[in-house]
Amino acid sequence: MAIPTPHIEATTPDVFAKTVLMPGDPLRAKYIADTYLEDVIKVNNVRNMFGYTGTYHGKKVTVMGSGMGMPSIGIYSYELFQFYGVEEIIRIGSCGSYSKDAHLYDVIVVSDAYSESSYAKVAFGMNQKIMKGTKSLFNQLKKAANQLHIDVLEGRIHSSDVFYRHQGNVIEDVANRHQCLAVEMESFALFANAKVLGKKAGCLLTVSDSLITHEETTSKERQESFHKMMEIALEAALE
Ligand code: HPA
Repeated sequence: MAIPTPHIEATTPDVFAKTVLMPGDPLRAKYIADTYLEDVIKVNNVRNMFGYTGTYHGKKVTVMGSGMGMPSIGIYSYELFQFYGVEEIIRIGSCGSYSKDAHLYDVIVVSDAYSESSYAKVAFGMNQKIMKGTKSLFNQLKKAANQLHIDVLEGRIHSSDVFYRHQGNVIEDVANRHQCLAVEMESFALFANAKVLGKKAGCLLTVSDSLITHEETTSKERQESFHKMMEIALEAALE
């Protein structure tokens, strides 16, 4: 397959930066581009999965939505890595806390993701249930947080295929058994793609709700409160 791909309309790879920040929501990609980047061009419109390339302190950076769930981030990250010459993707997302130590608005630097997903097995014949992010990028994200004096948690998260669940006890069955701090729905597929394609992937998550205390943020608060995470990702992109 060549470019353009079925999901990205750009006809030359060089409209994308080597580093791509990926929020789930394409409107958050727009917000980041509007707030932090200069000399911005729009690089994707297909399915409203907006992507923008600009500069941050002179460094070329792309921000593009991934959509929700492993099938969606699986498609976009694969195409960016394989067909558009992207070298590293930093997911910046939200998560539900599984731990009393991870409070609303806390930022987690993800080391690895546990998942029941069949993504890596079906796509690549990989049987593992735990997929690691790229160690050097993980370290870079922690260093960036440190330089910005932003406290972060670090550790394993759960990448789930389901948001609404009517059976089982996810805290006992997953969180405790596999030492997961929080739940989201994308990292496992992103990490698998990076590993297979020889690229780098990292992930920062902001806690948007708690499966322990049942507190939650509104979508407006969520939109506005993710600055810490965005700034860490942008700082790490400068490296
Ligand atoms: N579950 C799955 N993904 C999420 C959640 C959640 O509670 N919160 C934010 N992303």
